[in-house]
Formats: sequence, structure tokens, C-alpha cells
Amino acid sequence: MELTAELAQTAFIQPETAITDELNREKSTDRQTIGTPVIENPRMTCRNVEVFYGDKRAINNISIDVGREEVLAMIGPSGCGKSTFLRCLNRMNDTIPICRVRGEICLDGTDIYHSSVDIVPLRARVGMVFQKPNPFPKSIYDNVAYGPKIHGLTTSRQDLDTIVEDSLTKAGLWEEVRDRLHEPGTGLSGGQQQRLCIARAIAVSPEVILMDEPCSALDPIATAKVEELIAELRAQFSIVIVTHSMQQAARVSQRTAYFHLGDLVEVGQTEQIFTNPGHRLTEDYITGRFG
Ligand SMILES: Nc1ncnc2c1ncn2[C@@H]1O[C@H](COP(=O)(O)OP(=O)(O)OP(=O)(O)O)[C@@H](O)[C@H]1O
Ligand SMILES: [Mg+2]
Repeated sequence: MELTAELAQTAFIQPETAITDELNREKSTDRQTIGTPVIENPRMTCRNVEVFYGDKRAINNISIDVGREEVLAMIGPSGCGKSTFLRCLNRMNDTIPICRVRGEICLDGTDIYHSSVDIVPLRARVGMVFQKPNPFPKSIYDNVAYGPKIHGLTTSRQDLDTIVEDSLTKAGLWEEVRDRLHEPGTGLSGGQQQRLCIARAIAVSPEVILMDEPCSALDPIATAKVEELIAELRAQFSIVIVTHSMQQAARVSQRTAYFHLGDLVEVGQTEQIFTNPGHRLTEDYITGRFG
């Protein structure tokens, strides 16, 4: 699908240029996304995405890319469509009968909504971590081993042991659970459960991990651990994180997208979004005048 001329024009603005320009002009009030929604060599591309719940439109014609080895933060007031858009990226909205998605979303150039796409392997390639930790009612070991088993990633017990240990290590949980692998995952603390869910997502070697407010049920220490983990995981995976904490977005992400009433208002380098946003609505939100 061709980009609109406007989108193509805004695609490769360097942050420095944007900041210099900013000194000389008023903030934008456009409805068209400003900044850098489109990047070079993306992992995922979303073009003209619209989402409806019944007759109600929740997402208005959004185009954005997800980079490789990047953390992309999505921020915006409650009800602006962040979770709805995030769920489009691994077809989680398919589970909501009244929800319809239009437009094109590609992973490595392949349209994930094409009728030939099987959503089970898709959701392994684009994993999800939810707001509330949701370990299966199984042992710690089985929580992590479940995905590799059902996706047939391994046949031997030894390989499975290795995947479980590697995933728990990457999730920063191995040292805390190595002696209790066969105890229930639900017996862990909230922060440990969330890292277990991250280990479960990693175990099937995804390309993208979607996180919807992954720290909102965690205390500051557990939050710091998950944030550290996100920074490390970026070396291997693309991460898209929805957060209500602007400090968190600033700490963990390289790019930030600001949503407002179903529109994608602005996307840019995180530092630029928080120090010198280009759009009036972004500025109002980050300075606490809205939301
Ligand atoms: N299952 C659903 N059925 C009908 N409408 C829905 C459904 N889920 C979300 N919506 C509507 O879609 C819009 C966007 O909701 P969404 O949950 O994506 O917002 P959000 O930005 O994630 O908000 P929050 O920050 O509160 O989590 C809202 O108007 C919401 O009421
Ligand atoms: Mg939400």
C-alpha cells in the first residue's frame, strides 16, 4: 500500500530538525499524525488502520511502524484506543465478536490479516504480556514449557529444560525460582508472576512482544526489575508498551506515540516528545493539562 504524500513527507524528520523548526513556529494542531510514524527497515508496518466496535469507531486511520530492536511506547488519555490498537498487532481483537479491523498490518512484509495466516503461530511471533500477571494454573516450569511444547519447538526433555532455563534467565527470574520450578506459578509474588509471564512469552522466540501496562499492578521495586528487563530484551525483540506512566515511557522507550480519541497525534524520539512535542495535544497531555 502506498503511503500518503503527507505521511511520506513527515517520515524521516531528524529530531534536531524538528526541534529547530519548533523554535520558529506554532505547535501543530493537525489531525494528520506528525513526527516519525514511518521508519526505515521496520519489523511491523501498520497502514490506514481503523477499528470499530459495532458502529462505534475506536481507531481512526492510523499508520505507524514498529522498529527492530526498539521499544515503542504508546501513551494517551484513558479510552483513546491504546489497548485496542495494541491488540490489532497480534489479532487479539479477533476474540471480540463486535470488533472489526480495517487497513493493513504487516509483520516482516506479510499481511497478518490475510486469510492464509494461522493466528496460533502468529501469536507466538507477536507475544503479549497483560496488565495483570496471568500465569497458567500450572508449575513454574510448565508455564514456560507450554508454548514451546504446543508449537513443537522441541522434542527432547533436555532441549525443553534448556529453553525453560534460558527464558527464565532472560526474564531475570532464574535465580529466584531455580529451586522451586515444580511449584505453582500462581504462588510467586506479583512482580515474579509478571516476569514469569514475560519468560513464557520469550520461550517461543517471538519477534515482537506487546505489553499493555505491564507494571500497573506492581510495586516500584518489581517495576524497576521489569523495566530493566525491557531494556535488555530490546537487543533481541521489538517491544511495544502501553503505559500511563510518562516516566516509564521516558525510561524504557526510544520512540513514543501519543494517541488521542482514536487518533495517532504524534510519534517521535522519546526525548523529543517529552521535551519538545510538536503537537499542541501532545504538549497538553505531557504537561498535565489534559487526561
Ligand atoms: N470490547 C469492547 N467493546 C466495545 N467498546 C470497546 C471495547 N473495548 C474498548 N472499547 C472502546 O474503545 C475505545 C478505546 O478503548 P481502549 O480500551 O482501547 O482505550 P485505552 O486507551 O486502552 O484506555 P485505558 O488507558 O483506560 O486502558 C473506548 O471508547 C472503549 O470504550
Ligand atoms: Mg487500555
